[in-house]
Amino acid sequence: MILIGFMGSGKSTVAKALGDRLGQDVLELDGEINELTGMTIPEIFAEEGEAGFRKYEYKVLLAACENDGIISTGGGIITYDDSFEIIRNTDRKVIFLNAPFDFLYERISDDNTRPLASRPREQVKALYDSRVERYRAAADQEVDTACGLDETIESILSPT
Ligand code: S3P
Repeated sequence: MILIGFMGSGKSTVAKALGDRLGQDVLELDGEINELTGMTIPEIFAEEGEAGFRKYEYKVLLAACENDGIISTGGGIITYDDSFEIIRNTDRKVIFLNAPFDFLYERISDDNTRPLASRPREQVKALYDSRVERYRAAADQEVDTACGLDETIESILSPT
């Protein structure tokens, strides 16, 4: 399974709950990038820009696809064409975690570990709007995480 969705959609929380429930390992791509580079995400953005970050993200995505388990991605992974194609074409189930923008923004606006979230609200909204169709194009299922963790997990495990 691969979880995609905008910042604040709950990918990490849902991945952990699914991993516990299914007895599967969880791979957090942001964490894999930290490990690969020895840098934090803000450091990578500051030193190598978003383009540098996307290349690392692609690399860890490729490596993650070599193993079983649940892959929790960073919100912008689908903006990089090579990563988008991998996710769109994988045999794994791809879940788009979504929620109303206000809900997402509330969860990310004070977070200084997310370089792309510390912008004015309208810019973050424009980023969300620019991505949403790509999430949909890559996903097998879209789940609204605003209804809470338990319902989210049930929707994923027993889709109607
Ligand atoms: C990003 C989302 C972040 C992280 C980086 C870039 C984005 O992951 O990969 O800050 O472009 O939306 P989360 O979605 O886990 O916050």
